[in-house]
Amino acid sequence: MIKINENYKKLQASYLFSDIAKRVTAFQAANPRKHIIRLGIGDVTRALPDACIKAFHAAVDEMAGDATFHGYGPEQGYDFLREAIAEGDYKPRGCDIAADEIFVSDGAKCDSGNFQEIFARDIRVAIPDPVYPVYVDTNVMAGRTGEAEGGRYTGLTYLDGNKANGFIPDLPGEPVDLIYLCFPNNPTGATATKEQLQQWVDYAKANRALILFDAAYEAFVQDESLPRSIYEIDGAREVAVEFRSFSKTAGFTGTRCAYTVVPKDCTAYTANGEAVAIHDLWNRRHTTKFNSVSYPVQKAAEAVYSEAGRAQVKALVSDYLKNARYIRERMEALGYDCIGGENSPYIWIDAKGDSWAFFDALLDKAGVVCTPGAGFGKCGEGYIRISAFNSFENVQQAMSGISEVH
Ligand code: MLT
Repeated sequence: MIKINENYKKLQASYLFSDIAKRVTAFQAANPRKHIIRLGIGDVTRALPDACIKAFHAAVDEMAGDATFHGYGPEQGYDFLREAIAEGDYKPRGCDIAADEIFVSDGAKCDSGNFQEIFARDIRVAIPDPVYPVYVDTNVMAGRTGEAEGGRYTGLTYLDGNKANGFIPDLPGEPVDLIYLCFPNNPTGATATKEQLQQWVDYAKANRALILFDAAYEAFVQDESLPRSIYEIDGAREVAVEFRSFSKTAGFTGTRCAYTVVPKDCTAYTANGEAVAIHDLWNRRHTTKFNSVSYPVQKAAEAVYSEAGRAQVKALVSDYLKNARYIRERMEALGYDCIGGENSPYIWIDAKGDSWAFFDALLDKAGVVCTPGAGFGKCGEGYIRISAFNSFENVQQAMSGISEVH
């Protein structure tokens, strides 16, 4: 008899964004004439940058000739892309990251979900609340938690984010081994300073812990004093893995390309306390389970680092940030407390009541899709997240709709 992984039965709901998509589809079916504006899931709406499209086309043409065709590439990604990333994203920020510490992949969601696989089941995991649900759910699936009780899984260490701490959680009060952090934060849009990240790095070093740092939204950081990478922090090479993505920066949500940085100095320990390089473990896992991203997609991603590509990505990011500022200003003018939207495409809004009720009201009355904060954890209840990924016209229309029904 084939038996299931019983841990899946502990999962409280279907994946947040599938759940929302189902509700929106049902609403649209019941209201076929209603124009719906989607500011829920952080999915980009603008075309790929022209530099990426040109490189993409040229690479597809290469696939059309036997002499230039590409079969399997290196599992870790082609050197041309890994080198462009090290040179383009890390060197200018003073981060000591080598090309062979970069693993190209098809998404930061997959990598941040899969990374926990290389650690023991009995490690203690710290997860912020509110949080991107992938970090929690993948640890539940792996059996690192007990059942859910009162909206939280037993066995996890939750790091509360709230107005008092500006949604930057404090260090855990108990020892933990694996820590998930995300800045600029999804869902709250909060950003952490270098001093704040230094505390986490120091904690990880003192406790032989590891930080999984999700930097998928780093391109939205405008304030030059804020870190874009955990490797801007002293000592991070020994205790942090970083996830990045071309999805939100260069519009690759449908094209799929991301990367994970695993410095060779990061160590985990065997049951006997022997140090093992995490890079070797991840490389072993990656080469076994993954065949990297297609050649044309990696060529398109490489073009992000060309002169034209950089300028086009900058313009895209700045358009989305204009939307974010507008959303925040309009919501504040309506009397809502907001955070985010300055160095982030997400605006986190105190809904002054039940977050799913607010979600339903916005959809019903204004035809606007947001994301209910409760879907990101217990501390998200009472909040909603609005995403700036849409056209300015749609954002204006959404805000007018919200003002009317307010
Ligand atoms: C979000 O809306 O939180 C993100 O789009 C989800 C993701 O990147 O997987």
